[in-house]
Amino acid sequence: MSIQYKSISIALLTILFSCSKSTESNCNDDGSLYNSSSYPIGVALNYDEFKYNSKNANITQKQFNSITAENTFKADLLHPDIDTYNWLEADELATYCKLNDKRLHGHTLIWHQQLPDWILNFQGNKAEWENIFKLHIQTIVGHFKGQVESWDVVNEAFNEDGTLRNSIWRQKLGNDYIQRAFEYAHEADPDALLFYNDYNLESNPTKRNNVLSYLNNLKFNDVTIDGIGIQMHINIDSPESSQIAKTFEDFSKYDYLIHVSELDIAINPSNKDIELNKQLLDRQALKYAEVAELYNQIPSDFQYGITIWGVSDKDSWIPIQFKRKDYPLLFDDDYEPKTCYCKLKDAL
Ligand code: G3I
Repeated sequence: MSIQYKSISIALLTILFSCSKSTESNCNDDGSLYNSSSYPIGVALNYDEFKYNSKNANITQKQFNSITAENTFKADLLHPDIDTYNWLEADELATYCKLNDKRLHGHTLIWHQQLPDWILNFQGNKAEWENIFKLHIQTIVGHFKGQVESWDVVNEAFNEDGTLRNSIWRQKLGNDYIQRAFEYAHEADPDALLFYNDYNLESNPTKRNNVLSYLNNLKFNDVTIDGIGIQMHINIDSPESSQIAKTFEDFSKYDYLIHVSELDIAINPSNKDIELNKQLLDRQALKYAEVAELYNQIPSDFQYGITIWGVSDKDSWIPIQFKRKDYPLLFDDDYEPKTCYCKLKDAL
């Protein structure tokens, strides 16, 4: 074969090879996210995935130093009946964190979703509702005193237009239930850091401004609120970096610890019939890096950390919830690191 033919064949083979491997990233997981970072890097874990999937557990052990239970601490699982608490799985996670020097963030005490039937069907007057509300918060916070460093005390209490959501808690307890949730949690564990947690704060300025002034007003009245959980279920196109930067700035300016509490970056938000390709994965990687670079600008006293909402694409809530193909996390279905894992690590 002439030299010319030989180099054409090599070039063709290279093109063919790179096409068939179009989603490969040349990225390996030799390093560790949290070892590359000056602030904690966390992950959300579902008990079963963590307990029975050694790939998930190994990645968690090596890459993350903060844990949020994706579902285990929610009311329907942890407090399934009025006098019944299922401590088993939550305790096991807490013991794992203690033995392995991982921070445990509690998610979540008061939310309008994943409520057990006994709460949804509870018949009682205002004082009886107040009693179950207080007991729910204080029994759980008290149980994990000294083990859970921080709590999402109230989750997603605002509508997109910035008004208070008309959740069952608001209906039964009145507009000031948020204040009392924080007070009860603080009473049960004065050392725990207390967060308000919500979504779209980075993309919806109206909601962000209303949440901020509502929380500022509580703080002004001496209610202990230490931080804000900015969930950041975002996508490769949105929000723009200026919005993310403004969000971090707005909350740190008023002395809130900032926890990027549920980060994932969807690739297919408008549910197209896509094939995953290198270009999409590269765009996702740039967005992960952008979030970290903007987070690095926050004064270090307010950096509570970045938590990724799951280990692998296979475990993500997004394809299930929205019934679409998507790949929002740092590890692929085979628990191999994606380009975004490496870009994020470099950006920390
Ligand atoms: O536990 C039951 C199980 O008994 C049953 O067999 C199975 C059948 O569907 O469902 C199991 O419950 C599921 C639960 O996850 C635990 O796996 C629920 O159906 C399912 O709806 C639930 O989804 C969770 C969702 O919150 C609930 O609203 C997702 O995993 C979780 O990622 C998601 O997380 C929320 C945050 O808490 C708050 N911010 C938004 C975020 C995404 O929605």
